[in-house]
Amino acid sequence: MTFTRRSPTSEVGDLRSRTPTAYHRAMPSGPASGPVVPNVDQTVERPVLVVDFGAQYAQLIARRVREHRVYSEIVPHRITAAEVQAKNPGAIILSGGPKSVHVDGAPSLDPAIYDLGVPILGICYGAQLIAQQLGGTVGRGLRGEYGRAKLTRIEGSTSTLLHDGIPAEQDVWMSHFDAVTEVPEGFVATASTGDAPVAVLENPERRIWGVQYHPEVVHSPFGSHVLEQFLHRLARCEPNWTMASIIEEQVAAIRAQVGTGRVICALSGGVDSAVAAALVHRAIGAQLVCIYVDTGLMRLNESDQVVETFKRNMGIELIHVSAGPRYFEKLAGVTDPESKRKIIGELFVRIFEEHTGGLSDAEWLVQGTLYPDVIESGGSDGTAAVIKSHHNVGGLPEDMTLKLVEPLRLLFKDEVRKLGHELGLPDEIVLRQPFPGPGLGVRIIGEVTPERVTILQHADAIVREEIANAGLERELWQAFAVLADIRSVGVMGDERTYAHPIIIRAVTSDDAMTADWARLPYDLLETMSNRIINEVRGVNRVAYDITSKPPGTIEWE
Ligand code: XMP
Repeated sequence: MTFTRRSPTSEVGDLRSRTPTAYHRAMPSGPASGPVVPNVDQTVERPVLVVDFGAQYAQLIARRVREHRVYSEIVPHRITAAEVQAKNPGAIILSGGPKSVHVDGAPSLDPAIYDLGVPILGICYGAQLIAQQLGGTVGRGLRGEYGRAKLTRIEGSTSTLLHDGIPAEQDVWMSHFDAVTEVPEGFVATASTGDAPVAVLENPERRIWGVQYHPEVVHSPFGSHVLEQFLHRLARCEPNWTMASIIEEQVAAIRAQVGTGRVICALSGGVDSAVAAALVHRAIGAQLVCIYVDTGLMRLNESDQVVETFKRNMGIELIHVSAGPRYFEKLAGVTDPESKRKIIGELFVRIFEEHTGGLSDAEWLVQGTLYPDVIESGGSDGTAAVIKSHHNVGGLPEDMTLKLVEPLRLLFKDEVRKLGHELGLPDEIVLRQPFPGPGLGVRIIGEVTPERVTILQHADAIVREEIANAGLERELWQAFAVLADIRSVGVMGDERTYAHPIIIRAVTSDDAMTADWARLPYDLLETMSNRIINEVRGVNRVAYDITSKPPGTIEWE
């Protein structure tokens, strides 16, 4: 599935591209018909299953469902009816996908799932699959529609999905080639667009609905209403996925998991480990001991800040280990990104293990692993490509002797921040930018040496300081510096220089799964560039990274 991009414009004060990408969200709130009818059978344990047909947007759908306070989980399309039943879902959403239902090997759904009586909503490819598998027709190689389209209600048809609060004609976001041309028996077509004669198909008796367009993206202004209608009214999923319920569930789960065992938390200084620690602390209090390993790859003055903040704010026992020299020794001569990650991850865990000497009963290690980390590491179903071995998932050594407690494994980043607030953590922790576990190690291209870390720390401090001076901290997902492994010629004073460039990376994002480069004002870029070149020895050039994710990643390694 592709979404078209226009060429970007630089706009002071608006850091996001004006390009209508599917990633931007601003859910319109508007009229909704009828009261929410709670179904007493349903609890937060009844997930909405988002069946992944290979679309990046499966995650966006899952987040949208959660925004309606219904817990959602992404599952592979190979899931069987029995496995679905075992999960006791409140509803199923079939995601879009890049393939045509007609090609060999196109992903399909176990047909028995349609007979489970669980409400189903198919989106794009998911809608076509419903039509195809249940006896309708999907036209191949039609004209296709990409981008904005006008969706019109089909006169005389009765829709349960497009409720009365939704106009008879509305803008929707399309991205399809094939289209449903004939609905299966028992279904009605209730809306169409210029090139999709059946843009919405419904069978309320069987509780199966399909939409050719993408209600999950912000460019379908009434998409949120349709999801709400499906989740709350048609499927009657109870809106009980709240921060309070997450805390309650996780506290119980952590207690059940660790019993009376001693738990150690890997504090990194980032939001995730801080929130994970606070949550575990809430569950088991003094059974938790935190260890902060200064890898030598932290940001400027960060270690002092971390130790001070966690001791002061969280009142948790904290062991501070200064391990920089050990890291530099292991990293000497290593340039391959995955090798660096593995070395950093392994040493991290070894050091924890060494420092459990006085905690001989320590059995458990808390990690702030998030849902996107799990999915990106291929952990959700084993089919997603491994993009990077995340330090907190794939990078852990197999012979690690501590068992993992991952209380944030089901959460997206925005949910973690909300949870942090709910747990009483201060803004300075909850709103801080994400910082990768391997630290500056993934921002130094090539060999990691103390000298190169010093260069990067100073350049990075300037970038963040200037972003803060411009009042833009909250607008950005991350802003940092990267040290490249090349040198270029310059001239300073009357001297020829041959030194390293610093690359500034600043991105906007909702969850790090996708990101866009921030449209920083030119003046700000100029100030950063001047300061870095003047104040950081060994740097003679500054570049700005204008790559979105995809195709790039946020970090450089
Ligand atoms: P990428 O570079 O994959 O990063 O677009 C997505 C987000 O994850 C952070 N990141 C990491 N966090 N361990 C972490 O704890 C890691 O190995 C790691 N790699 C990337 C990155 O900073 C961004 O916010």
